[in-house]
Amino acid sequence: MKNILITGGAGFIGSHVVRLFVKKYPQYRIVNLDLLTYAGNLDNLADVESAPNYHFERCDVCDYERVCELMRRYSIDGIIHLAAESHVDRSIRDPFIFACTNVMGTLSLLQAACQYWNGDWSEKIFYHISTDEVYGALELDKPEGAAPYGSRFFSESNKYEPHSPYSASKAGADHFVRAYHDTYGLPTIITNCSNNYGPYQFPEKLIPLLINNIRNGRPLPVYGRGENVRDWLYVEDHARAIDTVFHRGRVGESYNIGGFNEWKNIDVVKLVIKTTDRLLGNLPGSGEKLIEYVADRAGHDLRYAIDSTKLKTELGWEPSLQFEEGVEKTVRWYLENDVWLNRVTGGEYREYYAKMYGRG
Ligand code: NAD
Ligand code: DAU
Repeated sequence: MKNILITGGAGFIGSHVVRLFVKKYPQYRIVNLDLLTYAGNLDNLADVESAPNYHFERCDVCDYERVCELMRRYSIDGIIHLAAESHVDRSIRDPFIFACTNVMGTLSLLQAACQYWNGDWSEKIFYHISTDEVYGALELDKPEGAAPYGSRFFSESNKYEPHSPYSASKAGADHFVRAYHDTYGLPTIITNCSNNYGPYQFPEKLIPLLINNIRNGRPLPVYGRGENVRDWLYVEDHARAIDTVFHRGRVGESYNIGGFNEWKNIDVVKLVIKTTDRLLGNLPGSGEKLIEYVADRAGHDLRYAIDSTKLKTELGWEPSLQFEEGVEKTVRWYLENDVWLNRVTGGEYREYYAKMYGRG
């Protein structure tokens, strides 16, 4: 029996992690702690909400007293911490909430774990989910031809060099996690993952935004010249990596998670257009007319590329899907789940759950 607290379980990646754990480990009690911000949507968990081993608690990770109370009430012995503000563009407009949620929220959870476990670390784990963006940006020294577009990759020993308020807040959180391990002996693990895509991603992020705009005939904004490179990973592969690290990762370590799958943004845009046009039965090429090159994101990181060899050699994890296959699955999911998409873009999910749980 394990009692696992998953924070941010109503969000994109969190909902996949909750689903995987609830279904794969019926002997575990899974407690989903989520504030239900704009990014948290319990529709994402409709298929597991009545499972006997699943519990939902609406709670702010920054609310230290309440987090302590929940840890006691559910006898928590493992934490997987995903709750965060996660969108870079929002962090440029409103950095304060990123520092509050991502830094102070993580600190609150770390302190609650220390307080509740009180030095008895046996069978305990505090697992923090972080991002490759903490490492900063890589050069594009092989701009032509196929990926990889550069000779350097992010490894676990890279120094932290965040550029956006989002990545700075995630770096701050990572430093606190490490400090709690080194200072108090809290058993921690950190993973730093690359760009995720797949079902249930909020349509402000590139891939679901493109699919939604194509289906509505709206412009497809490409920042700058579309030359920036990201390393894409299907979300269920990330959830599987989290399962692997949670159960078999070494305490005190950090692991990179990535797809070995670098793509320039403009090529991602073209692939999503081609796939969506085909599945919608649109004339080939019609979606490309919607591309609009717009002002670049401030401080836009040029290239991310993750080296996840450590995770592969130590724990045997590898991504399972080719990008084209994952994009096809993703586009199909969004087109088949237009009720989900309409409720999200229309904001109805917020009203619905605010009635049930009150406004955050
Ligand atoms: P998301 O924005 O889809 O979901 C975040 C969740 O956290 C939401 O359910 C939201 O309600 C909840 N939340 C926000 N503030 C909260 C608070 N104060 N208290 C409790 N809950 C709160 O995010 P995501 O894309 O699923 O990312 C999840 C985690 O993974 C984040 O920590 C993010 O930094 C990290 N990550 C994301 C990616 C990616 O590509 N999306 C890649 C690497 C790492
Ligand atoms: O690398 C991991 C990170 O990936 C996570 O930590 C973040 O939580 C997650 O949001 C993601 O960050 P990005 O900024 O890379 O993702 P986003 O989908 O916002 O943008 C992907 C790329 O596409 C980026 O180079 C900016 C560009 N872009 C994005 C949007 C929303 C566009 O060109 N047009 C757009 O409209």
